[in-house]
Amino acid sequence: MIHYMRMGKLPPKPHIAFYDDGKLLMEQCHTREGFEGPYSTLYFKTPPTDENAVEKMGIPGFCPFEPLAEQPLYRRHIRTQDLKLQGDFLDARRVLLFNADVQMSMVKPTETSERFFSNGDGEELYFVYQGSGRFETMFGILPFRERDYVIIPRSTPYRIHWDGDAPQFFVFEGRGFIDIPKEFRNRAGQITDYAPFSHRDFRGPESLLAYDERLHGKAPFKMVIKREDTLTVHLTQHFPYDVVGWDGSVWPVAFNIHDYQPKTGLVHLPPTIHITFAGNEFVICSFVPRKVDYHEKAIPCPYGHASVHMDEILFYVDGNFTSRKGIDSGSISLHPAGIPHGPHPGMYEKSIGTQRTSELAVMCDTYKQLRLTTAAHEIEDKDYHLTWVEKEGDGEVPVSR
Ligand SMILES: [Fe+2]
Repeated sequence: MIHYMRMGKLPPKPHIAFYDDGKLLMEQCHTREGFEGPYSTLYFKTPPTDENAVEKMGIPGFCPFEPLAEQPLYRRHIRTQDLKLQGDFLDARRVLLFNADVQMSMVKPTETSERFFSNGDGEELYFVYQGSGRFETMFGILPFRERDYVIIPRSTPYRIHWDGDAPQFFVFEGRGFIDIPKEFRNRAGQITDYAPFSHRDFRGPESLLAYDERLHGKAPFKMVIKREDTLTVHLTQHFPYDVVGWDGSVWPVAFNIHDYQPKTGLVHLPPTIHITFAGNEFVICSFVPRKVDYHEKAIPCPYGHASVHMDEILFYVDGNFTSRKGIDSGSISLHPAGIPHGPHPGMYEKSIGTQRTSELAVMCDTYKQLRLTTAAHEIEDKDYHLTWVEKEGDGEVPVSR
């Protein structure tokens, strides 16, 4: 929901007869919040409603996922580097953290997919950890590259293809919505000049998804739909995404994290200053390479803090992580509300006098407690909580795991 966009052929007004090669096209309004919210209008060669079979299905670890039965309170380090997965972008998806507002997953496909997927539970925000390729969607083909965020709006059919090495993604599923924060828009809906991005930074689909037997195969065509954490597969005899045109404000959008314009202060600014996207009861922030605070006595490393209403996760991507030791690219840290957190011993002092940081990381703060799945627990670094102790000890976290 960045701005209005149009692609392909459209009639001069909505809801009037519109033909392509002598055939009346089927108009479909893709609407949010009933008919009150943002919407797009698409024109289909074949009505997308003609599924002739529906089957139940499940992908253990994705849908359904298994919550960890007990979760004592301590700081966590989840090593997605150690997550081994196989299959297409659905089989190779594992939910790691969740609450009622957001689910966080890792996707490591090894095969391109013949089936499409539509998430009826909410928006999906893909962060492209590795690789490049294209999202083939009902709204057209959206190319992606490394370090892109890609928002797939709720109930948008899509699949992922790539050339070269297989991609990897860290995915947020927002149950309410995921959008840019309201405070970055003016009365006209335009992104303000002081926002950390501009309209020019957001990319939409580049071409429509015309049916091609070589690319899309033969009937039956398969669409996997997720709703209330249940999967069903819907079969059609016609390729259901042959769209000749669409317009509106709902479409999949890409934004590269390196296009984010970071802010630096006289002294250290809290992570809120790096906000990029907002959801219902959670925010997503981007830490990108930047100059650091410029007071002559500034301490650029984040101060210790007890953010008492929010759980915080960081997905570490690249560069030097100034406040943490033992963290690698691909790591997720979870610092829960209820206990304070801050830089590892030595990192605070070491940062004094530095001019720049090369860190690249994605942060998510949530109001509701984040819970681990068993898939996350299997790849946990279980000694992380004790790594703030200055002397190396042989003690264990004083709670059962
Ligand atoms: Fe924090």
